Amino acid sequence: MIIVTGATGNVGRTLVRTLTEQGREVTAVSRRITASDVPHSVRPVPADLAQPAAGLPSADAVFLLVGGDLMMAGDPAQVVAQFADAGKIVLLSSQGVATRPNSVSHGVAFAAFEQAVMESGIGWTILRPGGFASNSYAWAPSIKATRTAAAPFGEVGLPVIDPDDIAAVAVAALTQPGHTNAIYELTGPELTTPRQRAAAIADAIGEPVTFIDQTRQVARAQLLTFMPALVADTTLDILGAPTVHEQTVRPDVERILGRSPGTFADWAKRNAEIFR
Ligand SMILES: NC(=O)c1ccc[n+]([C@@H]2O[C@H](COP(=O)([O-])OP(=O)(O)OC[C@H]3O[C@@H](n4cnc5c(N)ncnc54)[C@H](OP(=O)(O)O)[C@@H]3O)[C@@H](O)[C@H]2O)c1
Repeated sequence: MIIVTGATGNVGRTLVRTLTEQGREVTAVSRRITASDVPHSVRPVPADLAQPAAGLPSADAVFLLVGGDLMMAGDPAQVVAQFADAGKIVLLSSQGVATRPNSVSHGVAFAAFEQAVMESGIGWTILRPGGFASNSYAWAPSIKATRTAAAPFGEVGLPVIDPDDIAAVAVAALTQPGHTNAIYELTGPELTTPRQRAAAIADAIGEPVTFIDQTRQVARAQLLTFMPALVADTTLDILGAPTVHEQTVRPDVERILGRSPGTFADWAKRNAEIFR
């Protein structure tokens, strides 16, 4: 049996569906998960990973996602100890461990979870993605309402990754040999700028979308409505002044999947309905 945490999220949803389509037995975990969130054959287990009393079943392999409050305030060793019986843990971490080691949110917090997984005595694989294509869901309300997309640093490119490709790599790491004690850095196939991403969504919905340049200050105020200041500031640093490392397309997705990662335009086409 495979446990997928973060099962209702961008990566977890696809991961649960793909594993189920392969005929695997899956237990899907999130705090508010219900049967209607998962395919029929999947067992939904509502549990808060921050509460060690969660009582999760033993599993052959675990996909561990440490989002939000858990990432910043959880005790990594305690969170990982909930899966002490597992044969393998695949941790969704962040590229920030390598590129922003001094950032509390993007580096230090994830490094602590990586360390806990590495010291657990369980076989591990660590996935370090860069920015997700799905961060562009934040544009859905304004594109729907006024056909506008606002962002800072409109001309700065990053190789954003399709969460479905992260899920595909996770499937390989959870179910195939050869990925134990490996760290993979996951990016998309090319740099795209926010302006180009807005144009790709416009193509996908078949309607013009006006790109609006935001100042860092305005963007920060918006980010603070749904993320802590520490997270917002490092996020803006990456978006506005990425390191060479953060702007480099990495080979790991192609090497593991035997195909190129999906483009942002592909992601936009698949998700066009959300922006119409
Ligand atoms: N977005 C990016 O650009 C980016 C880049 C690098 C790394 N990451 C990392 O990737 C992860 C986000 O992945 P995602 O986009 O697939 O997730 P997501 O869409 O944000 O969903 C988060 C999932 O985790 C569950 N969850 C949150 N807190 C929980 C807790 N305490 N106990 C149990 N379940 C909990 C949520 O469900 P409930 O609310 O029902 O609990 C949901 O299923 C984060 O760790 C983020 O830091 C993101």
